[in-house]
Amino acid sequence: MKRLSHLFLMLLWLSVPAFAQQPKAHTSFKPGEIWTDTDGKHINAHGGGVLFHDGKYYWFGEHKIEGRNGNKAMVGVSCYSSSDLYNWKNEGIALPVAAEGSGSDIEKGAVIERPKVIYNEKTGKFVMWFHLELKGQGYAAARTAVATADKVTGPYTFLKSLRPHPGVWPENATESHKTEPITVTENDPEWEQKVAAGAFLQRDFEGGQMSRDMTLFVDDDGTAYHITSSEENRTLHISKLTDDYVDFTDEYVRVFPGGRNEAPAILKKDGKYYMITSGLTGWAPNPARSAVSDHMMKGWKQLGNPVRGTEEQKSTTFESQSTFILPVQGKKDTFIFMADRWRPKNPIDGRYIWLPLTFEEGKPVLKWQDEWTLKDAAEKKN
Ligand code: DGJ
Repeated sequence: MKRLSHLFLMLLWLSVPAFAQQPKAHTSFKPGEIWTDTDGKHINAHGGGVLFHDGKYYWFGEHKIEGRNGNKAMVGVSCYSSSDLYNWKNEGIALPVAAEGSGSDIEKGAVIERPKVIYNEKTGKFVMWFHLELKGQGYAAARTAVATADKVTGPYTFLKSLRPHPGVWPENATESHKTEPITVTENDPEWEQKVAAGAFLQRDFEGGQMSRDMTLFVDDDGTAYHITSSEENRTLHISKLTDDYVDFTDEYVRVFPGGRNEAPAILKKDGKYYMITSGLTGWAPNPARSAVSDHMMKGWKQLGNPVRGTEEQKSTTFESQSTFILPVQGKKDTFIFMADRWRPKNPIDGRYIWLPLTFEEGKPVLKWQDEWTLKDAAEKKN
């Protein structure tokens, strides 16, 4: 008996360190702080987006590594799951990069940014789109790419990368876009104006339009949209995807020509579409913008900077750049603004800025909180 109790005590003693190492569960959001997953490691899902499926949230994002080269895709797209939005379990790499030397578009060392996943009810497939830059070409390729999976956590199979809409004019192209070529040279003093007027729309007509920062949005009727920074990041293009979500239809529009919008994120509330974007300053933060429309494909109007707070917060969007707007399930009109505080010198250390997105006088509003909960957000919402 004595022996048995000794054995029991020894087993208990051995298990103490294991318990002690269990990271404490999170009960709030602390924007900008290290955000540990259920293994106690800083979440590695930058430029991300969240899909709610079968009672759980899935966060997909860029897997970054340490050091200056850490923005290159060396591993792939990460996936984490959560039931409460505070505590995230690492589900591993949803889309792995292809082997070095394979010649694949998503070869290790390419750039994979802002992955977003949507679920197609008709095909039962999970569809991931992301911004892709081909290995060794800097940011010149400006492509969007698609992968699908049968299981939400993957593995995702890479289908193709492309420049959207080769040989197709946007629905709001003018007659002069189609007939009067605009020529622009590198040092042209009117470069910005000519690009806004459609110089690159024309230049890329045959081969397909540029696509860099992007997001996806699925409407209530199941129509999926691809929203991207095109024409050298000067003009947004909003495109309708095909019914299976793995391709582009021929329907697309130019939005805010010459507006220099990046990092688009969309939400829908009371039949209106709202968009938050950033300006165009590389990895450095800048003031966010917001816009509204009654239709995805037309009528977008600027609503100004959604940030309320200090000058510093307004001019840097809390030192961050938008990536997604997450509707909280079961809490009507409760939205989370998701943004990245980039750390380009050590990208793996990038921080997540999640804040409640509320509305004031019909405009989306963002205010800083050191710490907050979903309960706070639901109470303060409008
Ligand atoms: C800003 C974009 O929003 C990021 O996703 C990334 O592409 C950087 N530019 C690269 O400079």
